[in-house]
Amino acid sequence: MGKSYPAVSEEYQTAVGKAKRKLRALIAEKNCAPLMLRLAWHSAGTYDVSTRTGGPFGTMRFQAELAHGANNGIDIAVRLLEPIKEQFPILSYADFYQLAGVVAVEVTGGPEIPFHPGREDKPAPPVEGRLPDATKGSDHLRQVFSQQMGLNDQDIVALSGAHTLGRCHKERSGFEGAWTTNPLIFDNSYFKELLSGEKEDLLQLPSDKALLSDPVFRPLVEKYAADEDAFFADYTEAHLKLSELGFAEC
Ligand code: HEM
Repeated sequence: MGKSYPAVSEEYQTAVGKAKRKLRALIAEKNCAPLMLRLAWHSAGTYDVSTRTGGPFGTMRFQAELAHGANNGIDIAVRLLEPIKEQFPILSYADFYQLAGVVAVEVTGGPEIPFHPGREDKPAPPVEGRLPDATKGSDHLRQVFSQQMGLNDQDIVALSGAHTLGRCHKERSGFEGAWTTNPLIFDNSYFKELLSGEKEDLLQLPSDKALLSDPVFRPLVEKYAADEDAFFADYTEAHLKLSELGFAEC
């Protein structure tokens, strides 16, 4: 069941390449890779497989979606991106936000995630309440990632490794602190820290700790902590799926 991607014009493809370079520069200048990745993820993670609503279709451009409780702080990413977006009116917001996520992973030392253009912007945001709740456990993660989004257990653990980047901000989520000692580097340290137990200066959300107690999740945490190449391979697959939920389905 391969995907059938829409054809985009040469002009569009050229704009993708140029926008990518501008994004690299912006992210280097502002050190904002974590927030860009969170923007891409919160854009895509609203996908609901049963109704085919939500997903990575540019709706984070609307104030209504930025106002969802889970999206506190994402307005900053949208605002930082706007001057670049204005230079490429041909690109959809949908593609542009997902491109920002791919570039954020790449420039912080993570894997190169394939990018396929051609998403169309949807005219209105999804309903609120589809993103995961950090205070909950494995059942909830499966409810959101598997039942709602259509991803699998391996995707859940691999994607959680994105918390190798960035940190929590008290005024945004109510939590405070980073998961690793190098929050601007994309590597497998999230999994190493998770296994090595709680430390005073680092944070583990209840949803992160849930990966340790679940019999399917835990072996994957151990595998990724021991083998960064395995993490990068599975992360690439999972991020690609996330960035294309509801897109180019045959
Ligand atoms: C598994 C369920 C998840 C939960 C419950 C969760 C929850 C959170 C919370 C509470 C924050 C802190 C926001 C703030 O205060 O600034 C955060 C930050 C972040 N999340 Fe997640 N997250 C999850 C999955 C993911 C996934 C799948 C990705 C990407 C693929 C991701 C990427 C990030 C990044 C990069 C940050 C740091 C943002 C920054 O530094 O500004 N998260 N997440």
